[in-house]
Amino acid sequence: MSKAVILVTRKLPAAVEARLSRDYSPIFNPEDRRYSTDELLQKSEGTDAMLPCHTENLSSEVIEKLPDSVKAIANFSVGVDHCDLNAAKKKGIIVTNTPDVLTDATAEIAMLCLLGAARRAGEGERLIRERKWNTWSPDFMVGTQVTGKRIGIIGMGRVGQITARRARGFDMQVHYYNRRRLPEALEQGAVFHESLSTLLPISDFLALHCPSTPETQDLVNEALIAQLPKGAILVNTARGNVIDEDALINALRSGRLRAAGLDVYKNEPAIREEFSQLENLFALPHVGSATHETRDAMGFRALDNLDAIFSGREPKDRVA
Ligand code: 8YV
Repeated sequence: MSKAVILVTRKLPAAVEARLSRDYSPIFNPEDRRYSTDELLQKSEGTDAMLPCHTENLSSEVIEKLPDSVKAIANFSVGVDHCDLNAAKKKGIIVTNTPDVLTDATAEIAMLCLLGAARRAGEGERLIRERKWNTWSPDFMVGTQVTGKRIGIIGMGRVGQITARRARGFDMQVHYYNRRRLPEALEQGAVFHESLSTLLPISDFLALHCPSTPETQDLVNEALIAQLPKGAILVNTARGNVIDEDALINALRSGRLRAAGLDVYKNEPAIREEFSQLENLFALPHVGSATHETRDAMGFRALDNLDAIFSGREPKDRVA
């Protein structure tokens, strides 16, 4: 029996590509060049499945044009906002993602962004790198204490819950807003808020862990920021689309927000120029899951899903 042909849209970790070569007929992207939509469609000809990253635009228009031979899209990501699930369903294409395996790595980056923003790590780094550190005084580089403060989490899914656990390591009081209240065992003492109107005023730190959906588009806007305590700190490791970036930039400039720690943005990697100028922004380039362990695990998880699909079993991480 011939092996299934898999279009692998980006360069994946060596161990993942080795398993792909062993079990499938992969079409690799050794230069790791981002394919245009036309290239993606052309390279999909004659393939049985695609293994894309969140960098691929799999809109309804693109999915409708995929050849009928494509039976599955096994994402190398937990986020699937780059992939039109309804269009895939309509075409009978199975879509999977890679949850769980990147939760710890992403929660690490959430805490790094929180600490980096609160303790002005970016500013300090720049002083050293630009060889501009020429003084010390009692009010030099004074930041915001994290220990014992209140963190509000929007989206208490896998990553939100682990970020809460890490935050408790700093004796932070955890509050959360979620579509559904968690069972007590998962809450671990976190305070549930049915409405953002009660969560926001007590959030010294606000961490976003919700997916990018039509409902969460620009959720963090001027009106929401106005409900936070003055000088609150915002953290986003979810998706850039959740934040109205004009409102964020204005709030950072005015000091309404003391600082922000971001790992995700709109239009990555061509993000707003203002982000490179804001001193009170601790900024990372979407490295949430960027560890060797996690990226290998993401690849193996995507392959587990393909193995299930191509042996007629229900894949573990089906999202469409
Ligand atoms: C990935 C992510 O790095 O999984 C996600 O949704 O944003 C990151 O973990 C990226 O998506 C790789 O495709």
